[in-house]
Amino acid sequence: MTVNGTTPTGAFSGDERNAVYRAIFERRDVRKDFLSDSISEETLRRILLAAHHAGSVGYMQPWDFLVIQQAETKQAVKNLFVQANDAAALQYQGKKADLYRGLKLEGIQEAPVNICVTCSRERGGSSVLGRATVPETDLYSTCCAIQNLWLAARAEGIGVGWVSILDYVALKEVLGIPQPVWIIAYLCLGYVKTFGDQPDLEKAGWRKRLPLEQLVHYERWGNRLEDSSANEESLMPEIDRNASR
Ligand SMILES: Cc1cc2nc3c(=O)[nH]c(=O)nc-3n(C[C@H](O)[C@H](O)[C@H](O)COP(=O)(O)O)c2cc1C
Repeated sequence: MTVNGTTPTGAFSGDERNAVYRAIFERRDVRKDFLSDSISEETLRRILLAAHHAGSVGYMQPWDFLVIQQAETKQAVKNLFVQANDAAALQYQGKKADLYRGLKLEGIQEAPVNICVTCSRERGGSSVLGRATVPETDLYSTCCAIQNLWLAARAEGIGVGWVSILDYVALKEVLGIPQPVWIIAYLCLGYVKTFGDQPDLEKAGWRKRLPLEQLVHYERWGNRLEDSSANEESLMPEIDRNASR
């Protein structure tokens, strides 16, 4: 890649760039078709290290990762999911309710590893650099760590599913998480039969990806490109989808 005839300092090689974009575009939320193959300790640590290298406000590193592998714990979390999901289903009526009930929205027991990601909001003391005006930046930081984890796992061929349909107060009790610590995510990880080429919710007809140009504004809110003929597909780098298969 060149800009004005030169390669930008620090730019990745073409293959490296493609690998990064491949992880991004082929990341999926995975809830089914987990294989029972275990994830090695080394691989798991590498994925967690990738998460731990996320940016964080004031370098606060507010995250912790609680790794769950025991069947009894997963069963207890699954029970919480069933309760929360039954309640969530009541929000929908008619066909939408039928569609909702048909969705598979967790892989808690099928996935060999579950990880609860938390945010310790008091870490770093009372005046965390950069956090004075927006206290929630510690929560955002933890989400950055989760995205790193998700992408690193994808590169390892490991699927990740985010389960938020849980009562976090009850989940804290199940996992012994101290009161001031916030739960940000409950993730299910495992090798998979296949990664879908589109989000499961899209495939199920729940929602479609919005066109990017609808979401990009120039200089002031509402100024969008009039000619929205840019084809998103053509912006995607050539990805060798068979590279690891
Ligand atoms: C904060 C957050 C919470 C989510 N909670 C759930 C959930 O409880 N159950 C579920 O099936 N998917 C959950 N997802 C996954 C989304 O449904 C998924 O990311 C979206 O449908 C797009 O699909 P993709 O991740 O495969 O691109 C969650 C994702 C995020 C970012």
